[in-house]
Amino acid sequence: MKAAVVRTPGGLNNIEVIDIADPGRPGPGQIRVALHASSLNFHDLLVANGGIPTADGRVLMADGAGVVEAVGEGVSEFQVGDQVVSGFFPQWPDGEVGAPVSNFAGTPGDGIDGFAAQYAVRAASAFTHAPRGWSHAEAATITTAGLTAWRALVVDGGLKAGDSVLVLGSGGVSIAALQIARMMGASVIATSSSDEKLERLRQLGADHTINYRQTPEWGKRVLELTAGRGVDQVVEVGGPGTLAQSITAVRVGGHIALIGVLTGRQGDVPTAVLMAKQVRLQGLIVGSRRHQQDYIRALEQSGGRPILDQRFPLDRLADAFRLQESGSHFGKIVVEW
Ligand SMILES: NC(=O)c1ccc[n+]([C@@H]2O[C@H](COP(=O)([O-])OP(=O)(O)OC[C@H]3O[C@@H](n4cnc5c(N)ncnc54)[C@H](OP(=O)(O)O)[C@@H]3O)[C@@H](O)[C@H]2O)c1
Repeated sequence: MKAAVVRTPGGLNNIEVIDIADPGRPGPGQIRVALHASSLNFHDLLVANGGIPTADGRVLMADGAGVVEAVGEGVSEFQVGDQVVSGFFPQWPDGEVGAPVSNFAGTPGDGIDGFAAQYAVRAASAFTHAPRGWSHAEAATITTAGLTAWRALVVDGGLKAGDSVLVLGSGGVSIAALQIARMMGASVIATSSSDEKLERLRQLGADHTINYRQTPEWGKRVLELTAGRGVDQVVEVGGPGTLAQSITAVRVGGHIALIGVLTGRQGDVPTAVLMAKQVRLQGLIVGSRRHQQDYIRALEQSGGRPILDQRFPLDRLADAFRLQESGSHFGKIVVEW
């Protein structure tokens, strides 16, 4: 079967679409899925471009959506023909976060083979049902970006109607967060490097927008826009280069979900302000299978759909990553086959 793999030491020129062994029939507790789409995440880009070292020949991509082709003995949750989407942590079905999900050792497309392939045979618990009526490309946006936004705002942030949310930039996680916030009846302030993207963010429901290049002190601007109160929640995708502004922007007692590394992996944190404002600053990585099922129920109920940018065939995965590296995308870049 066809699969997109990366050769060590990584780099977009080291992505190859090759023939690898078909995974065969599902064993007890497993399903065989004919995969048809994946979506690009910053994490996948880091694995592909060598920013995160991985095994030679690793099949890329954490997100995978497709159709169940065969079910193994003892599987009652899925039937042949069901549309499914993969989970980021196949080893985290439910419950409290714990040591097995504190790294990417069990994550498809990093510690284990991913879903840039025609077929996968995995434990049934590595997938959930996809939202009814969604295309494979749409469903593939749930695994990483969508679920991270859901956990940040709803599971850990306890989002409720009337809350205010700050999202940074117009990538996959931030637009999913904007959509979840609107779906839950919250108001949204969104930032971007581009006025054109800010206009699109307003069309998606952002109440206020800020160009973070033109307004480097955007935390203060958020305070102005909220009459000095600050926002209830921040989905922090930037990391060290943006966290200080996010701490300015959040309200006393608010919640910052620290999820991103777009500006680097360590840096100065204004700890005294964090303490004085009694902010809950929480690192998190994606979510459990139960979180994904809850999120999908909410998506089916709300009728919202993800925002897809360009679509690429599998054998142009490297070009899809080049588009992502350019930062010109809006929402999710997808690959389909
Ligand atoms: N912890 C987790 O579970 C988890 C899960 C998913 C993603 N992440 C992390 O979250 C981050 C975003 O991931 P993604 O997949 O959504 O990436 P993405 O789709 O590639 O989004 C990148 C976008 O981020 C915006 N951006 C870049 N630098 C920025 C800055 N300094 N300030 C504000 N916005 C900035 C840009 O938007 P504009 O062009 O509009 O400026 C850019 O287009 C990454 O660091 C990723 O590793 C973490």
